Amino acid sequence: MDQVVAWVSGGASGLGAATARAIVGAGGKVVMLDRDTEKGAALASELGDAARFVEADVTDEGALQAARDRALGAFGTVTAAISCAGIALAAKTVGRDGAHPLDMFKRSIDINLVGSFNLARLAAEAMQQNSPDADGQRGVIIHTASVAAYEGQKGQPAYAASKGGVVGMVLPMARDLADQGIRVMAIAPGLFLTPMLEGLPEPAQEALARQPLFPKRLGRPEEFGAMVNTIIASPYLNGSTIRLDGGIRLP
Ligand SMILES: NC(=O)c1ccc[n+]([C@@H]2O[C@H](COP(=O)([O-])OP(=O)(O)OC[C@H]3O[C@@H](n4cnc5c(N)ncnc54)[C@H](O)[C@@H]3O)[C@@H](O)[C@H]2O)c1
Repeated sequence: MDQVVAWVSGGASGLGAATARAIVGAGGKVVMLDRDTEKGAALASELGDAARFVEADVTDEGALQAARDRALGAFGTVTAAISCAGIALAAKTVGRDGAHPLDMFKRSIDINLVGSFNLARLAAEAMQQNSPDADGQRGVIIHTASVAAYEGQKGQPAYAASKGGVVGMVLPMARDLADQGIRVMAIAPGLFLTPMLEGLPEPAQEALARQPLFPKRLGRPEEFGAMVNTIIASPYLNGSTIRLDGGIRLP
């Protein structure tokens, strides 16, 4: 892990912040890319010399390209790129106020799916410059999907479609990048206690916490960070999506 230089989109909050902490905790270096400058800069100063924050909007082609160059300047290389930037917008296909707003659907796809691909393609291009390790490996890309990719709930056509897209691109990207020694994986989290869920009322959180088979609780962000470290450290993991969900199968 002390050779790892990771870029983490959405690194200012929730699962991304936990990932940054886990990588630095294991001896690696991390650049957090996020549009939330306040939280991003605060976490970078907390994590010290092994961490940097670069402001970035993953949906903006030119801005992410510029952020990539600044991120490369921070530690001179990138060996792992983890996409955690995401939003969870909810609306039914036809709700009380009429048809699902189309811009809401497009925004979900733009941030969760296009944004993940945008970071991955730019990171993979930079990884091609890395010298291969003994296994021929130059880097690893990790996307964040969701169990909603498989069991989307009412009100989640946009979110589930965006996450289904993430799951769908893992294998073709792994195939595209295999010759360069770059692995591509995704994690499909169940229900994790992050600012995304902390906004729900307490009874709703408790109801969700009863859903996993075992353990009967919400996932802890540090458990996501530990899974990221496991994927980074396991060269034989490639081309698939790992559910990290306490056995939950949403109804
Ligand atoms: N929390 C859960 O239970 C859960 C479950 C399944 C999947 N996920 C997924 O995990 C990822 C992280 O979620 P979280 O719970 O940590 O949420 P969060 O809201 O705590 O963090 C998301 C981060 O993404 C950043 N972000 C959003 N849009 C961005 C953009 N366009 N460019 C750059 N940064 C942007 C936000 O500023 C924020 O810091 C998301 O993709 C989410 O869909 C979360």
